[in-house]
Amino acid sequence: MGAQARVFVTRPLPGDALSRLEAVHDVEVWPDRLPPPRAELLTRAPQLEGLLSMLTDPVDSELIAAAPSLRAISNYAVGVDNVDVDAATARGIPVGNTPGVLTESTADLALALMLGIARRLAEGEAFVRSGEWDTWEPGLMLGRDLHGATVGIVGYGRIGVAVGRRLEGFGCELLTTSHSSGGVPLDELLERSDFVTLHCPLTPETRGLIGDEALARMKQTAYLVNTARGPVVDTDALARALHAGEIAGAALDVTDPEPLPGDHPLLDAPNLLVVPHVGSATHATRGRMADIAVDNLLAGLAGKPMPHSVNGTA
Ligand code: DGY
Repeated sequence: MGAQARVFVTRPLPGDALSRLEAVHDVEVWPDRLPPPRAELLTRAPQLEGLLSMLTDPVDSELIAAAPSLRAISNYAVGVDNVDVDAATARGIPVGNTPGVLTESTADLALALMLGIARRLAEGEAFVRSGEWDTWEPGLMLGRDLHGATVGIVGYGRIGVAVGRRLEGFGCELLTTSHSSGGVPLDELLERSDFVTLHCPLTPETRGLIGDEALARMKQTAYLVNTARGPVVDTDALARALHAGEIAGAALDVTDPEPLPGDHPLLDAPNLLVVPHVGSATHATRGRMADIAVDNLLAGLAGKPMPHSVNGTA
């Protein structure tokens, strides 16, 4: 075990994983519900040796340069688009993430969003609560079936595969497209799918992937579901497509901007279901993510390979 290191954790974590870090290192946990402001991170940077960051913290080249003693970054997420991995790698700093443990929970939520938007659950609940439900009607709140539908999975990695496995149980026809494992061309997937569900990481290539052109290719009866990263979808294009009835609806766990302000114009669009980035938000999964994030940081600070690192041991 190496010497005690100065570690900053940018939010309290569920479970007791942090106690393992605190037993070994000099740990400060940002106590608030909201992320530490940028100025706070920059002020702490010169002393920092270990950082346990959230997806809400931009760990960019400026922050990394301001932290000359930084030896390990552990991101409490599978996605690391908030971290400048190249800048960390150039400094030999390992960057950890939390793959695997959130796959099934995120896939569950993708299914919940598909069913929620297609069967109009939020609308139905609001209808009942407002007292408008006065009779059973043959044509009340008709939606679309997920069972038997053609579902396009964009990004067929761990989470995409887990979504596909669930959809097979619904008798769906699956179309997949992915950077690494091929599948059908994206245009074909968009044109043929009744649901398009996004599971790719946010990279320069996937930023804005679903914009005006992609949305125009989708069927008018199709739904878009995003549990990946908000900027994979062009928000203005999506709002336009929903207002114009170009697609049947969208269900989003992630948005751009994120968080989406309560008065954001996207929220005026019809047939939209939005939840606040809760794909991995179950007690068990967030606890397992904390365990992995702590394991990664402990290993990185001890100069050992992180159990899960996106840049090797750097
Ligand atoms: C991730 O891990 O990248 C999710 O978006 C949050 O758990």
